[in-house]
Amino acid sequence: MPLKSEIIIQETLERLSAAAAGFFAMRARACAQQKSRFTVALSGGSTPRRMYTRLAEEPFLSETPWPKVHVWWVDERCVTPDNLWSNYGSAKKDFLDRVALPTDQIHPMPGEMVPELGARRYEEALMRHFELKPGEFPAFDLIFLGLGTDGHTASLFPGHEKRKQEKRLVVAVRGGEPNVDRLTLTLPVLNRARHVVFLVSGREKAEIVRAALGPEKISIPAQSVIPTKGRLTWILDRQAASLISAQ
Ligand code: 6PG
Repeated sequence: MPLKSEIIIQETLERLSAAAAGFFAMRARACAQQKSRFTVALSGGSTPRRMYTRLAEEPFLSETPWPKVHVWWVDERCVTPDNLWSNYGSAKKDFLDRVALPTDQIHPMPGEMVPELGARRYEEALMRHFELKPGEFPAFDLIFLGLGTDGHTASLFPGHEKRKQEKRLVVAVRGGEPNVDRLTLTLPVLNRARHVVFLVSGREKAEIVRAALGPEKISIPAQSVIPTKGRLTWILDRQAASLISAQ
């Protein structure tokens, strides 16, 4: 575990989701005060869904300075937004349609494009938003990640070729469940974030959580998430944490 990291264990997924929504609102308020905007990247999958719906409920609905929030995605399945597999489509239903977030501050990955073109398009959007020079990487204020039972995170799967990512912000890959074309932020982007929060729930994740948080390097993508300067937080429910002892 990197030095600046912490493990928070919540009894249930419901409490994990409330804690994660609280992180979102708190970081958004802090960033809005310090630098007038908050830039966050969201993962897909099932774990964060309840957190997303909580964001459209009190107290987080009122606590979050929505006009200052910019929502990006960690990864996306290459499908149209109306497809049930769409991470953006799910987030839209879960909270984006129910909060006062200006539409030009919602930045979905272009899943409906040819994957490589979509990756390039999203890279260009990130370069503009963060005012980057070639070779620079964006520093998100907060990134939420999930964890697959194989140790993948984002859409970075075991065996993926790291070297392909070193200079890229976004790459097109194929894999996961569903096994489809995907766009994903790269490790250099994840590790540039000011704060990375893993959300992991369920007994089926206990073994990979123990492996990922253990001292042994097992070359799974989740273990390569080591923020260069930022904080790393794992928010686990009791079941996902059942094989580790809280530090
Ligand atoms: C995706 C996700 C993916 C997810 C993990 C965990 O688009 O599939 O970003 O990386 O976070 O697979 O998924 P669950 O939360 O459904 O277990």
